[in-house]
Order: sequence, then C-alpha cells, then structure tokens
Amino acid sequence: MIDAGPNTLLERGAELEGLASQLSGARAARGSVALLEAPAGHGKTSLLRVLRAEAADNGLRVLAATGAPLERDFAFGIVRQLFDAELHGADAARREHLFAGAAALAEPVFATVPAADQQDPAHSTLYGLYWLAVNLAAEQPLLLVIDDAHWADAPSLRFLDALARRVEDLPVLLAIGARPAEPGAEQELLDGLATAPATRLHRPGALSEAAVRALVSAKLDAEPGFIAACFETTRGNPLLLTELLKSAPFAGRADEAEAVRTTVPGTVARTVTARIRRLSDHALAVARAIAVLGDATSLERVAALSGLTPAEAASELDQLAQADLIDPADARFTHPMVREVVEADLGAQRARLHREAARRLHADGALDGVVATHLLAAEPANDPWASEILARAGRRALAEGAPDVALTLLSRCSPATPESLVALGLARFRLGEDPLPPLDEALAGDVSPDLAADAAAIAAAALVLASEPRRAAARLRAAIPRAPEARRGELEDQLVEALSYRDDDAEEYLATVERHRDSDRPTLLCHLAHARAMAGAPRSEVLPAWRRAFADTRVFARLGVERFAALWAIEALLAVEAADEAKEAIRAMTDLTDRAGSRSSAGAAAWLEARWERRFGHLRRAEDLARHGLDLGRGAHVPETAIGTTLGGILLDRGDLPGARDALAAIPEPGPTASIFGLWATRARLQLEEGDPEAALTSLERQESADAARRWLIGLREDSHALRVRILLALGRADEAEAFARTEIDRAQAREAAGAEAVLHLALGDAQRAVDAAQRAPLPLVRATALAELGFALRRDGRRADARPPLREARDLAHRCGAVALEARVHEELVVAGARPQRLAFSGVDALTAQERRVAELAVRGLRNREIAEALFVSLKTVEVHLGRAYTKLGIKGRSQLADALA
Ligand SMILES: Nc1ncnc2c1ncn2[C@@H]1O[C@H](COP(=O)(O)OP(=O)(O)OP(=O)(O)O)[C@@H](O)[C@H]1O
Ligand SMILES: [Mg+2]
Repeated sequence: MIDAGPNTLLERGAELEGLASQLSGARAARGSVALLEAPAGHGKTSLLRVLRAEAADNGLRVLAATGAPLERDFAFGIVRQLFDAELHGADAARREHLFAGAAALAEPVFATVPAADQQDPAHSTLYGLYWLAVNLAAEQPLLLVIDDAHWADAPSLRFLDALARRVEDLPVLLAIGARPAEPGAEQELLDGLATAPATRLHRPGALSEAAVRALVSAKLDAEPGFIAACFETTRGNPLLLTELLKSAPFAGRADEAEAVRTTVPGTVARTVTARIRRLSDHALAVARAIAVLGDATSLERVAALSGLTPAEAASELDQLAQADLIDPADARFTHPMVREVVEADLGAQRARLHREAARRLHADGALDGVVATHLLAAEPANDPWASEILARAGRRALAEGAPDVALTLLSRCSPATPESLVALGLARFRLGEDPLPPLDEALAGDVSPDLAADAAAIAAAALVLASEPRRAAARLRAAIPRAPEARRGELEDQLVEALSYRDDDAEEYLATVERHRDSDRPTLLCHLAHARAMAGAPRSEVLPAWRRAFADTRVFARLGVERFAALWAIEALLAVEAADEAKEAIRAMTDLTDRAGSRSSAGAAAWLEARWERRFGHLRRAEDLARHGLDLGRGAHVPETAIGTTLGGILLDRGDLPGARDALAAIPEPGPTASIFGLWATRARLQLEEGDPEAALTSLERQESADAARRWLIGLREDSHALRVRILLALGRADEAEAFARTEIDRAQAREAAGAEAVLHLALGDAQRAVDAAQRAPLPLVRATALAELGFALRRDGRRADARPPLREARDLAHRCGAVALEARVHEELVVAGARPQRLAFSGVDALTAQERRVAELAVRGLRNREIAEALFVSLKTVEVHLGRAYTKLGIKGRSQLADALA
C-alpha cells in the first residue's frame, strides 16, 4: 500500500491500495488507467499528489498536467503541458528518438510554427501522440497525471482515450482526476474514458464522523457539539471542513455550533471571499491578475495586469500566501475553487483584464492559441487585431486535427474575414456539419480567387460525401473558370471525381477524361487508364497508361490519402488481368497509406488487396482482408457498399451462400455508388445460385444499364457477361445465350483477357476451351474451375482414367486458392473416378489468416514488431499474438526461419 506520509489522508486506504497495485502493474508493462472521480474537495488532487511521489520513488517518470476553465479552448493544451517540458529538455538525438516512427505525426503539435494543413489530421495526430507516449515509456516506465480533467480540451481527451484503449501492454499508468458532471465538461469523452476496458474507477467518498473528529481535533481542542455541527454542515467534505476551520478563529466550543452552521452553507466561496476581503486592494488586484492569467502567470505579467511594480506585486504575493490562498511555490491558487471564486468576482473587469492579458501575452511571443483563449474570455468586440489572432489560432487547430476547437475560435472572428469564413467552412466540413453557409458568406464578399478556389473545393467535397455529386459538380463547373491558373487543375480533378459517382453523369465524365488525355495530372491519368480498360482496350494499351499515371509512386502522396483516384487505376490493372503490376501498385499504395496513418485509406487499401487475392490469390485471405477493410470503413456509406459487395462475391466464390446473403443484406440502402461497385451484379449471381434466374436477370439488367451508360463494355462486375450467359441458359434461352457468348468471347480475345474468355467458355459448358484459355491467365480459381469441369465431363463420358489428371490438378489448385466448396466437390469426383485421393493437411502457409500473413510478411521485410503495429493499426500485443500463431502454424521456432517458411 502507498504510505500517504505526514499529511495523512483519512479513510483513503482502499483508493491508495488500488493505486499502488496499478502502479506496480505499470512497472511490469501491464498499463492501466486510474480515474479518480469525485465532487469538488473529496481529495482527488491530494490522492494524485501521493501517487506522484510514490511513482517517482519507484523509478517512474512522472509527467503531469492540470486542466483550467480557460484552456478548454486551447487545442492539445493538456497534451502540451504533459510533454512540453520533457521535449524541451531533450537534446537533438533524444528528440529524434522520441519522434521516431509514427510519433513523427505528432511533432507539429509541439512546434512553435504551425504545420501546413494535412489530410485527415485528426486521426494521424492522435496516432502520433500515442507513439510518442510509447517511445517515452520505452525509456522508462511512465506515470501520466491529468488533474481537473473536467476542464481539459477535447482534442487532448481524445488522445487520452486513444491511449487508454491501448495502454494494457505498455509500462504506463494514466491517472486522471475529474469532477463528475461538471458544467461545460466534455462529458462524453470523459464517460468514454471511464468505460475503457483498462480503466479502474476510484470514487473517494465523504469522510465519516470519526474522520471529521480526527481532523478537527488535530487543530482544536473541540467539544462533541462543535464536532457534530462540523460533520453535519460539511457532510464530510474534506475541503469544506478545511475551509471552515480557516474561515474564523473558532475555539471548538459547543456554543459555536450555530456559527459553524451559518458559515458553511455559503460554502467555500464565502470563506474565500471573506479572506480576500481582509486583504488590501492591491492584494485583491494581484489575485485577480493571477485568476485571469491562469497557466501563463509570471511576476511581470501579474504586476502589469494589476497596475503594480514587480516589487510591489511580489510583496502582495507573500500576503496571499500567508492567507493560504496562493501556493508560494508556483504562484497558483491553493485550490481551483479559490480561483473560481476570484474569477466569479471579477465582474465588469473580466473582459478588460482578459483583453489586456491577450495583448501582453502576444507581445511576449505566446502562441496564438494561448492568446486566443483570452480573447474568447473577453467580450466579443469588433477588433481586427483580435480577429486575426483568432483566425490564425483556428487555422492551426485545424491543421492539428482539432476542428472542434477551430470552430469555436473561428466563429468568434469579428469582423469575420473571407479567410476566417473559409477556414470556418473547413472546420465544419471536418466535423461533418454543413460548411456551405460560411463558405457562401465568404464568396458573397470581396474574396481573392485563391480563397474562392478553396471554398469551392471544400463545398464540393462536402456535397460528394453527402451523396449530392450533382450539386458538387455544378459548383466546381462554376468555380473553374474563375480560379487562378495554378488552381484549375486541382478543381478539374475534383470535378472528374464528382462526375464519376453518378451513372447519369457518365457522358460528361468520359468527355472530361478524354479531353485531358494528354494531361500529366495523376488523377486524370488514373481515370483515363480505367476508362480505357473498361471500354475494352487491350492490356498492351492499358499498361502504358498506368505506367504514366504511376511514373512516380509518390503519386499517391500527391493525390492525397483521402482521394481515391489511384483505386481506379488499380482496378484497370485487375480488368486486364495484370496480376504482377496490380500487386506492385497495391504495395506502393499500402506503403504510403500505412505511413499516413489514415484509417479510411487503410480501409481502401485492404479492400483492394482483398480484390487482388480474390482474383489472383487466396479466397480466405481475400475474405479476411475484406472483413478488415469493412471494420476500418464502418459507418461510412461508400466503403460499406464497396467492401460489402466484394465480401459477398468472395463468399459466393467460396460456396458460402448464407454468408454471401448476409454480407449483401448488411449493405446500407444503396446509393448512387451501388452500380460502380457492382452491387446489382453480385445480387444477380446470388439470386441465380439460389435458383431464381428471373430475379437474377432483373438485377443483372440494372447493372448492365449502368455499365452501358458508363460505356463499360467488359463486364468486370462479377463477370457479368458470363453471368448473363448462365442466367439465359437457366431460363431456357439457349440460342440467345450462345450468340451473346460468342460476341463476348471474340471481344475478350481481342483484348487479350484469357481469364474473361475462359469464364465465358465455362458458362457455355465448353470445358476444354475453358481449360485452354485459363492456362494462359493468372487466375487460379478460374483455372481450377475449368479443370474441374473438364474432369467432371470426362467422367460422365465414362472416361474415368482421363478424368483423373485434370481433377487432381483442379483439386490442388482449388486448395491453393482456398475454394473450399470446389475442393470438396472435386474430391468426391476423384473418389468416383476411382482415384484414392489423400486428404490435404490444413497447415502451413495456407493455414495463416490474412492478418497473420501480413504480420509475417512485414516481419520478413525486416520491420520490427512496433513498426508492424504502426503499419497495421494494432497494438504491439496483437502483433506478438499473430506472430506466435504464425510460428505454430508454420512449425518454426522464430523470426529467422520465417522467410524460408513463407517462400
Ligand atoms: N481523505 C482526506 N483526509 C484529510 N484531508 C483531506 C482528505 N481529502 C482531502 N483532504 C483535504 O481537503 C482539501 C481538498 O482536497 P483536494 O484539493 O485534494 O480535493 P479535490 O477532489 O482535488 O477537489 P477539486 O475537485 O476541487 O479539485 C485539501 O486541503 C486536502 O488536504
Ligand atoms: Mg483537485
């Protein structure tokens, strides 16, 4: 148990014991969160003080921060308090170490000069801060103390939440003090922390009468009647009791009970006010200056704000310390309630003092964010200087990933400028709110062409997300002619994206892409490669277009991690069956998105990998990747549609009809993107396999008309041309099926797509031709299916011996690509054909799940566990678990054998 030392805390045995065990857990890398939640004065700060001393004695590094009402509007204020001192003290080498790896994403938070705006900063900053904590904890176990978290800023609380959810395998104890249900607190975030699995809640209660007696008796020779009055009126609140005893020179007699009762109901406020009243005017002025300055106190500033010389201010500080209002060590109030009382008593001077503080702090070179908190506390005034600072602080908060703080700051810019309005629009966009009102207000004024371009870009992005691509396109069309030359390309790129969503816009989309066919802008080149491939261009034409788009793999960085043009180019590669090039492109993309730390682009990358595995690799890996991607994209309409459709198709390939039905049913109400992702075709295939060819034809025709509007001739969606052949045959329309198939086979041959050709032969039931074509294509599932059908046909003809070789090959291939249902069927046929097939053991590389395989592959590429964890958005522990399982399945002892085992 922790010894509370000379200033013993009464009745806190359970809390101290619990904290002690969490502390020793943290030292053994079993981190946790201690949340001390209790009303004002119950001793949270006192417990944290004991914990800090104990941790320091036990070799932990202690970093601490305290919330304050004013600083709630300073993005990452708490985070800065926590880490700033440690980072400033660090030399260049240590700093580099602390910001190594993904931690670099957090560096802008600690820079004095704001970073340029980044994509999806919210996620990457939190991610970087998490890794900064990991790096610090790797040097020495860590105690992070955040007191008065009910006043903490929201971005910092989000970081604490992210850390809390991954703290369990770190040598870190996160100790947080907060009042429950404090007005203005970020209650949702605090509640989130309280419910994190690693959180242990401590609720120090009121003191018993015996404890009150002990506390009173330590000061006074008190009579029972006096003690009873103290207990009754303070209800065992230690703070009220302490303040009560300070408030008047009580002797402890029973006849003072009445005086006790009338003192306390006014709570601390009155006792503090009374003590302050006894002070001189100068002392009061100094107390007010300290209350206003908050965290930023210095003797000079206090003196200036209270209108005294530094020497005078210093002597008033002594007075305040003697009255036990100020802690002489750091010129802070002894208790936050003292500050609250002084602050509440500022009255009409409040605004003036905060504005004055803002000017001083600005003159002293304070960060805009700090100055801005004072401007917010001052009354709104029409002040261009203040507006400018608020706007700068708001833009920085935006760049750091704190759009909520930015919104507060930017809404207060008065006069609002076009700059502040456009930034306000961006903040609202990032928060998922409608950005159009401030953007339109900016555009109505005297706005520079550059800002107008910014406004158009933000408005269009918001409209696309809101499933209003048509309005997005209209705005972009209007903005492009007015934009500065240098910005036009970017807006045109965005227009192409907006147009790509709606089947009805297909004409204009294609015309725009074609018009720019000689451009070297990556977005356009990606769309161009796609349009060509889908219109049936042969591989020999599509590959050069792709190479131009990807000439420099930094194209992904330029495209921006949240903009998905690269996906179109990669799909073009899937369409022309260029397995190796597609793999290369996907790898380049995942490398970059991993580093950017963006969840949505990691989801998109997993989706593409799933599609690659489905066509060229292994179905179970495809399924795992699709499910992983779906997890990352959960809650967003477009990813749920795209990845849900892919998952449904994969499950159909695996022969899992109920699974496919569920996956498709889980897709939200289909929006305008359903046809791009092939939802109708996948539904058609499910309906056919469920024995309802009529319904299948209706669904397929919906897909086909969308494809036709886009001039997609090749039927890539669920092999929709082969699907039509199968449906027509099931409906007894054999002649039509035959004629349609012949045309499409010719077209597949012309575009050198042997896989597509094989699938069409298969649909017609021509197994021999299907095998011939499939041997030329890198699609193992198609090849397995073709060989199986050939084997079945030979066996039906009674040619059992001839049937065996293709069946054997089919079974091996089906096994290798994870087509479980096909493998089982072929196995049965082999038995019928008189072979005695061995059951294939399910171990080795094929037994690895997609995540296990990814972890293992990254390990082979030389990444350390923590780098793997960073890349895959998982904890270190998860990486260790996956690796351990992979070793077992592969039958190896460790990392050094991995490369051979995977080869
Ligand atoms: N268990 C205890 N035994 C004796 N004294 C206590 C105890 N708990 C708190 N005190 C005293 O009560 C006063 C208030 O405690 P403290 O400042 O720790 O409260 P708090 O919970 O942090 O309040 P707030 O929510 O206002 O920050 C301090 O003077 C402290 O010494
Ligand atoms: Mg406290």
